[in-house]
Amino acid sequence: MKRRDFLKKVIKAFFLTLTAFIFSASIYIYPSNIRKRRFHYIYLMDEDDLPKKGVRKIEFHYEREHRIVNSRVFVVAGNDKFTAFSPVCTHLGCLVNWDNNKKEFLCPCHGGKYNASGEVIAGPPPKPLTRLPLEIKDGKVYVGIKV
Ligand code: FES
Repeated sequence: MKRRDFLKKVIKAFFLTLTAFIFSASIYIYPSNIRKRRFHYIYLMDEDDLPKKGVRKIEFHYEREHRIVNSRVFVVAGNDKFTAFSPVCTHLGCLVNWDNNKKEFLCPCHGGKYNASGEVIAGPPPKPLTRLPLEIKDGKVYVGIKV
């Protein structure tokens, strides 16, 4: 075997090994239960109970890894459209509340404020509130969350 052919085989083997290592490491670093997280739709309320206008906090629960998880979502009504927001502040994860007098979502931790569209209007949050998908099917309203 010529020296050049030998070097080609060594380089090829090196890159194959490197590729296998990176693939294995990515599976370890990015576990399957995170990779496979998709939206699951959880029943919120009957369609008739959707707010006609304004913002409504809706509490719900679901099962995750054999535990009951209590959660909440804000549903904002406007022009026959409904938007659901996660209550989790995008700064450090505190739960925001809706102030109906000021028409703002307020974060109790560091003074973050969001308008009814979920956009940041004051404080340290780096991005808007997370929108969650809503689905209305057969008169029932479901919110999509990653379980
Ligand atoms: S966690 Fe909401 S402003 Fe800091």
